[in-house]
Amino acid sequence: MKVLVSGGAGYIGSHVVRQLQRCGHEPVVLDNLSKGHRQAVRDVALVETDLRDKDGLARCFAEYRVDAVMHFAARSRVGESMQIPYDYYENNVVGSLNLVKAAMDAGVDKFIFSSTAAVYGEPEEVPIPETAPKAPLNVYGKTKLMIENMLEDFSNIYGLRYKALRYFNAAGADAEGDIGEDHTPETHLVPIIFQYVNGRRDRLCVFGDDYDTPDGTCIRDYVHVTDLADAHLLALEDLARGGESCAYNLGSESGYSVLEIIRAASEVVGRKIDYAIAPRRPGDPAKLVASSTKIKEVLGWQPRFGIRDILASAWRFHKAHPDGYR
Ligand code: UFG
Repeated sequence: MKVLVSGGAGYIGSHVVRQLQRCGHEPVVLDNLSKGHRQAVRDVALVETDLRDKDGLARCFAEYRVDAVMHFAARSRVGESMQIPYDYYENNVVGSLNLVKAAMDAGVDKFIFSSTAAVYGEPEEVPIPETAPKAPLNVYGKTKLMIENMLEDFSNIYGLRYKALRYFNAAGADAEGDIGEDHTPETHLVPIIFQYVNGRRDRLCVFGDDYDTPDGTCIRDYVHVTDLADAHLLALEDLARGGESCAYNLGSESGYSVLEIIRAASEVVGRKIDYAIAPRRPGDPAKLVASSTKIKEVLGWQPRFGIRDILASAWRFHKAHPDGYR
């Protein structure tokens, strides 16, 4: 299938583009390159357009005549979303509205949306099922939930068909070693650990060691970006078969604390990694672990990579690219 991938030059988008190519699909990347990297999609058609540019979107759909859309482009920093909410509502909510409208106008009815565990907020039960209450604690999570609600309404009323994939903590890098995670500034634990190992940071801080968890540090569910990519392919095939519009959690169903991740990363790089305990980061829930039973049962998704593979693949990318794509 020909698939328009918005945000395809970003971290998760570029890994999905790679997997689409491997499976014989034809990705077309749409990215304004504000955060994405041209080097991450060297051998793919790239349309440099912003989601706020309705005419640009219409031109893109007219030119490429795609069968489906995968939508990754978004502002995605939780802390930043609480400082510049306008940018988040405009880029994420208005941008998605424009993209969905352009897709529907062009007769494209298959839409896969990049959502997040942040739609749940502080969970009442862990592992978190899709049916758990949606109570996002930050603007980022609120924008993603608004878009999910919009897709549900458009599906019921206009017949749009969609899958919303709620990622837990995406990490790791493609096996070929040439694409990986590179945000500026970086806020995510795994790349920060390897930037520290590479001497690109002075300190590695653990944000809080007084949470109600066994070692006092936050527990997260890390899922390999290539496993996420596999799930997108399965979601696409299911929509093509007439599968239902719905949301799925995507996590490994295993939780690791910040200290466990640092210890596992030490084993991967073969040396001890020092850290300092710092104050809690505002808005961090103590424990987020997915129940991914639904996507396993309905689409047959099975994560192939464990935490060691995640860290080893991320380290391979960071060792070869200590300054990211620069
Ligand atoms: N952490 C540190 N030190 C750091 C960076 C992170 O201790 O330098 C901790 C955080 O406090 C958190 C854990 O490592 O406990 C993971 O933090 P990340 O920033 O890597 O990931 P988050 O769990 O905060 O965020 C992820 C996604 C978001 C999504 C969120 C849902 O990256 O897009 O889950 O809660 F919104």
